[in-house]
Amino acid sequence: MNLTIEKLAKEYTTKDGKVNAINNINLVINKSDFVTITGPSGSGKSTLLLSLFGLIKPSSGKIFFDDKRIDNISDSALAKIRKNHIGFIMQNFALIPYLTTVQNVMIPLSLLGVNKSEQIKRATEVLEFVGLKNRLNHLPRQLSIGQQQRVAIARALVHNPSVILADEPTGNLDPALSLEILDFLKKINTEKGITVIMVTHSPTAAEYGNKKIKLNNGELVN
Ligand SMILES: Nc1ncnc2c1ncn2[C@@H]1O[C@H](COP(=O)(O)OP(=O)(O)OP(=O)(O)O)[C@@H](O)[C@H]1O
Ligand SMILES: [Mg+2]
Repeated sequence: MNLTIEKLAKEYTTKDGKVNAINNINLVINKSDFVTITGPSGSGKSTLLLSLFGLIKPSSGKIFFDDKRIDNISDSALAKIRKNHIGFIMQNFALIPYLTTVQNVMIPLSLLGVNKSEQIKRATEVLEFVGLKNRLNHLPRQLSIGQQQRVAIARALVHNPSVILADEPTGNLDPALSLEILDFLKKINTEKGITVIMVTHSPTAAEYGNKKIKLNNGELVN
């Protein structure tokens, strides 16, 4: 997988006027890169991350995914790419409260039309990988915060994505747990060759990147 971003910009329009959230972003991300994105609050980190695969529509610029232009394709074509190739880990985990651990992790496979017994098998395998084999039938509220975060990671991994996008995946965790989650992401990155693109406030977390990107006021800084 290869992601090339050319002159990407996003301008939000609000009642108070326009906000240039990101400006003139140029970037090349290769397979197995671990990219970290840091910068002050409001510098455009989440906007950049969510723009990459169309969860936010960029205002201008080009994005190429494996040399195919994806910034100007239809919403359904983009959704198909996300479903097949992308795993998301959000800061608040976004687990479904009334679904069990294994059911939460089955969601991406269900969207891909995988049959039920295969969904259960693959969800169970990946939950084993994140150390939650004995928590398959718990609800999110019956899990610790770190366990909930690992469920979110398992869900992001279960369909073997080529890219994982993570927005502050350790934002709510204590230092020990943060390191555990970061080590997981590193393991996924090196053992499975999955590209990781991670927004973080933490300098320690940023050190996990082989490519460290800094944003200020919507622009890349060195
Ligand atoms: N939906 C929106 N409508 C209007 N303005 C927005 C919207 N989302 C973000 N912004 C503005 O765009 C800028 C960049 O926001 P963004 O969420 O990308 O920052 P961030 O770097 O992720 O910040 P944080 O570290 O606080 O999460 C901010 O000034 C923000 O107020
Ligand atoms: Mg953000």
